Amino acid sequence: MTIKAVGIIGSGIMGSGIAEVASKAGATVVLRSRKQETADAMIGGLTKSLDKQVERGKLEESARNDVLGRVTATASLDELAECDLVIESVVEDLDVKKALFAELDGIVKADAILATNTSTLPVIEMAIQTKRPDKVCGVHFFNPAPAMSLVEIVRPLTASDETIAAVREFASGCGKNPVEVKDRAGFIVNALLFPYLNNAVRMLENGTASRDDIDAAMMGGCNHPMGPLALLDLVGLDTSLSILDALYEEFRDPNYAAMPLLRRMVTAGHLGRKSGLGFYDYAKK
Ligand SMILES: NC(=O)c1ccc[n+]([C@@H]2O[C@H](COP(=O)([O-])OP(=O)(O)OC[C@H]3O[C@@H](n4cnc5c(N)ncnc54)[C@H](O)[C@@H]3O)[C@@H](O)[C@H]2O)c1
Repeated sequence: MTIKAVGIIGSGIMGSGIAEVASKAGATVVLRSRKQETADAMIGGLTKSLDKQVERGKLEESARNDVLGRVTATASLDELAECDLVIESVVEDLDVKKALFAELDGIVKADAILATNTSTLPVIEMAIQTKRPDKVCGVHFFNPAPAMSLVEIVRPLTASDETIAAVREFASGCGKNPVEVKDRAGFIVNALLFPYLNNAVRMLENGTASRDDIDAAMMGGCNHPMGPLALLDLVGLDTSLSILDALYEEFRDPNYAAMPLLRRMVTAGHLGRKSGLGFYDYAKK
């Protein structure tokens, strides 16, 4: 199956990024958010991003118009009925995702593939909510989706070879580098990355070093483009906490046990860049 029409659910950081990637790759894209205003705001965000690329000479004006012509925004799941592939990128909450897969299964056409952009949750739990578990898999983009080349294709026990091949072709067509991974919490990248991020919070909490020195050390010492605390702010502290909780639930490894400081910051609403305050204060930047 060649994927030509893509539905994207969720108007957060990742939904917006994936929408830009898919529409620029030539797919017809239907964006769905729970409210029409936020769905429309996604088109506003996409327009702004494309305009910047035109200004910088990275995109032709005509290509900008073609991309925007392929994208529609809706608050209704029913408008995803004709999509070949639907990628959900809503909040990292298994119950929310399970309910969404059950509902989508009754809406989309019989041969459509349903995919999740989850960072850690078991894809099989979503697959078994549907009558098409062979057509469910994970398509895990990285943040920011337009800039990051990796896509993890997550294969639950039920997925068919055809589904994996179609999604892999889609990811390659988006200019991404797909890797395949079994359905285990954290897949490849987050299973390796999050003990490091969590231990950076531990180091800050212990008073071993300051925020700025922890981040400067990893940038200067390991050539990372940003430090761990700045990266947590970029990912979102709520999403990061959900990722750690899912990893701990699966493996019971103490390195995955979220640090109390991270949990308290989420409770306080300090979610990182998206709320304006996390380990850094974005109002001051
Ligand atoms: N942030 C990252 O770096 C990153 C990277 C890769 C994958 N992901 C995954 O992408 C998904 C979305 O993450 P994000 O960072 O875009 O989050 P976000 O907080 O920016 O956006 C979450 C979206 O989910 C919607 N939402 C919240 N509750 C909902 C509900 N009950 N029903 C339906 N929609 C609901 C919100 O309105 C919002 O549009 C998560 O599964 C996350 O694990 C995140």
